Amino acid sequence: MVNKDIQSVLIYDSEIKEIVKGLATKINKDYSGEQLLVVCMLKGSCIFFSDLIRELDLDIRLEFMRISSYGNSAKTSNNVKIIHDLQEDIKGKNVLIVEDIIDSGRTIKNLKELLAKREPKSLRVATMLDKPDRREVDINGEYIGKVIPNEFVVGYGLDYAQKYRNLKDICVLAKSVYLN
Ligand code: IMP
Ligand code: MG
Repeated sequence: MVNKDIQSVLIYDSEIKEIVKGLATKINKDYSGEQLLVVCMLKGSCIFFSDLIRELDLDIRLEFMRISSYGNSAKTSNNVKIIHDLQEDIKGKNVLIVEDIIDSGRTIKNLKELLAKREPKSLRVATMLDKPDRREVDINGEYIGKVIPNEFVVGYGLDYAQKYRNLKDICVLAKSVYLN
């Protein structure tokens, strides 16, 4: 059973739909008349990505990437392990990275540094969620769905131990799930 693992609903799916539409309106305006390569960061952003691209009224192409971060420790900028890389050359292209959440900011900072070396025309980040209270590095997304408090959330693509990604709402996970 999943319900007992959920403490509360933070963002209902009806609100999620409005947030996604609002983000798409801004993106459509900013890239009007331009081509855009939209990058889904697997696995967490798969549902947000699917909703967002269907609201885009632009000449877009889709790409998928999966990385894992080595975490905080001593290593500097390039501590990202690429599990699945982009198939397309991004040189000279407008690239929009689609993420589920920016937490410490390390993943997105490392990823941006890595992709910037490939010389895209532009490189921006759209994130469904942002937890600025947790930030450890100086980075922000250009398109932010919703700023949330420092709670561990699941659903709408976000997981805990690969579970709960299929929940329609964004939910606060019960502490009993990860304190046991
Ligand atoms: P960062 O490098 O600390 O910004 O981590 C970002 C990644 O951590 C996200 O792509 C998520 O996979 C994961 N993450 C951070 N906070 C949460 C959360 O509240 N729920 C689920 N995953 C999270
Ligand atoms: Mg993730």
